[in-house]
Amino acid sequence: MIYQSDALSVKRLDGDIAELIFDLQGESVNKFDQATVTALTGALDALEAEQGLKGLLVTSAKPVFIVGADITEFTSLFGATKDEIKPFTATNNANFNRLQNLPYPSCVAINGFAMGGGLEICLACDFRVMSTAAKIGLPETKLGILPGWGGTVRLPRIIGVDEAVMWIATAQDQSADAALKAGAVDAIAAPEQLREVALATLANATAGKLDYQHRRQAKSSPLPLNDTEAMMAFFTIKSMVAQQAGKNYPAPVKVVDVIEAARGMSLEAALDVEADGFAELATTPVASALVGVFLADQLLGKKAKDWEKKADKKITRAAVLGAGIMGGGIAYQSAYKGVPIIMKDIAQAGLDLGLSEANKLLAKRVNRGRMTPEVMGQVLNSIDPTLSYEGFGDVDIVVEAVVENPKVKHAVLAETEKHIAKDAILASNTSTISITYLAEALERPENFCGMHFFNPVHAMPLVEVIRGQKSSDAAIARTVAYANKMGKKAVVVNDCPGFLVNRVLFPYFDGFSKLVRDGADFQAVDKVMERWGWPMGPAYLIDVVGIDTGVHAGQVMADGFPDRMTLDFKTATEVMFENDRYGQKNGKGFYDYIPDKRGKPTKTVSEEAYKLIAPIAGERTEFEREDIIARMMLPMATEMARCLEEGIVGSAAEADLALLYGIGFPPFRGGIFRWMDTVGLAHIAEASKKFAHLGKSYELTEGMQAKLAAGETYY
Ligand SMILES: NC(=O)c1ccc[n+]([C@@H]2O[C@H](COP(=O)([O-])OP(=O)(O)OC[C@H]3O[C@@H](n4cnc5c(N)ncnc54)[C@H](O)[C@@H]3O)[C@@H](O)[C@H]2O)c1
Repeated sequence: MIYQSDALSVKRLDGDIAELIFDLQGESVNKFDQATVTALTGALDALEAEQGLKGLLVTSAKPVFIVGADITEFTSLFGATKDEIKPFTATNNANFNRLQNLPYPSCVAINGFAMGGGLEICLACDFRVMSTAAKIGLPETKLGILPGWGGTVRLPRIIGVDEAVMWIATAQDQSADAALKAGAVDAIAAPEQLREVALATLANATAGKLDYQHRRQAKSSPLPLNDTEAMMAFFTIKSMVAQQAGKNYPAPVKVVDVIEAARGMSLEAALDVEADGFAELATTPVASALVGVFLADQLLGKKAKDWEKKADKKITRAAVLGAGIMGGGIAYQSAYKGVPIIMKDIAQAGLDLGLSEANKLLAKRVNRGRMTPEVMGQVLNSIDPTLSYEGFGDVDIVVEAVVENPKVKHAVLAETEKHIAKDAILASNTSTISITYLAEALERPENFCGMHFFNPVHAMPLVEVIRGQKSSDAAIARTVAYANKMGKKAVVVNDCPGFLVNRVLFPYFDGFSKLVRDGADFQAVDKVMERWGWPMGPAYLIDVVGIDTGVHAGQVMADGFPDRMTLDFKTATEVMFENDRYGQKNGKGFYDYIPDKRGKPTKTVSEEAYKLIAPIAGERTEFEREDIIARMMLPMATEMARCLEEGIVGSAAEADLALLYGIGFPPFRGGIFRWMDTVGLAHIAEASKKFAHLGKSYELTEGMQAKLAAGETYY
């Protein structure tokens, strides 16, 4: 043994070859945490001191190679200055340079995921052999940063600028085939042959049949581009990357800047440029928001897995009641993810519609080459459309998605309960009706909870799993397990009108109604909020949700929280409703929706809508951008704070992700609590004072006031 630590070891193999083996003790994966970085320094000391070595093989003893840096350690970087951040990149860069400069060739056997720093160490090795089962990539820009351990320097020098920028800017995983084609790896091998191929490659190098010095030279030299070539290449790439990333995500463009700035430099100098770029990005709020989202997502995933472990039964068969927009979507998603499902409606027309929706979605996948026609057939066959309760005795879970009417739901739930097994779970996809109230119709209310999907079901990741007063842990566990199986992100919340997401969305809509009442142009409001980062502004969003749904749900919310959600004026949304403008669904709402050549509804300005609103809208007023944002966001923020204080949601992290996954809250802002932390509660308090006349939804909650007084943040 040449070196031994809890993160990695180095041993001597026959033929004077050393093997560096990553195997982080107590963890299921290898990652570059502080312990691993320190151990790698120790291993390199030992390797440099060891006499008579001819080559180095780098391997992992885990199913993954190295998944990247330990992202939990990143959070400490965010409060730091650029100078404080530099050692983070410097230590491992020194390690990787020493690895690259060992006096004998090195070859890495990439057996599984090699991401971020995991790939960067591979790039420092002379030769790379990759298992056909492995994936490699540099996902840093997804976190708002850039690869800081030589990725922006070595990758373009190995695979060329265009390809390297694509890899880094899109942050996509690459398969073994793609990696080989790009020239990022020298060979690919079946998993069982990987070691043998890597050792053979190393033997060729030690025998002088492969020129490793030449490779080192290329990685340490300027990029082989003359000035004209460089100007052309970087100009085109930069505009393309900027367009794809959008102005709120600076990391991908910074990557191009860094590669361009370092193009004429040697390795050391180029690494310095990279380190500056890394430090610059790491101090942006975007990076802390995106890393926050990543960590929150891990927390959410862990909680969902924990619930699943508690489930007493695997979900093998499901049923859905109602084959409408939501029921059809749920049936599709369940079948697509491998859980056969009975789809029941009271009307054949409903069933036909549900099936044709599923058919359309599947056909799209087949047309894009993402599914074979055979698999499409199998998925469609696993949706069993019916007008009766036949087969309901065998299902593990039933999702109710009939019309949003408490009486109808009570009747349907009570009837269904008679046809299912005693331990089967019933879950309602209601968007507003109290789960505790719906449970009153049931003999086994403990087997009932909410399972609230978002529209369109196949595209929106969130599912709220709602615990009513009598819902048992078993009901929640099985429902979360089903959500997991469907590939959804489950957030468990407690029961209240609107649950979590709609409860905070409607105050936001109320903010919009008040702006229009006070003379704002709804299109201007949409534009400001879209610039702020929302995928669509509030008027457009209500059109997409459905004006009728919005008005109905708004009433439920007002009944639930009259002190702050009752509006004492007629809203523009109500005017739309009274004039049969239901939004995108009937082609007219705040905007008109005119089908384009392909039949896709395109949003156009509606003079009619403006005329209708005029009598209830105040005199046209130009609002400051900041005021529009504050008037829209504050009601959402205070209501979310209430949800946290009342225990409707378990943590700020879950609340933030629910908004990201449920209604497309801008990821670069990290969620509503992250946003409050970023702008500061003092700023929120000022806005609250300024808009106090708009009502209680603009008042800070007690919890917010306490946090402000104590100088605390949500994260
Ligand atoms: N549409 C959305 O954006 C959305 C989002 C989340 C939740 N939801 C909720 O999902 C539920 C369904 O909404 P939708 O938009 O799919 O409605 P929808 O009108 O498109 O579909 C409802 C379906 O239920 C059927 N139905 C009525 N009574 C039935 C019964 N007794 N048994 C079986 N089927 C019956 C109808 O024939 C119809 O096909 C509602 O509770 C709604 O609040 C809707």
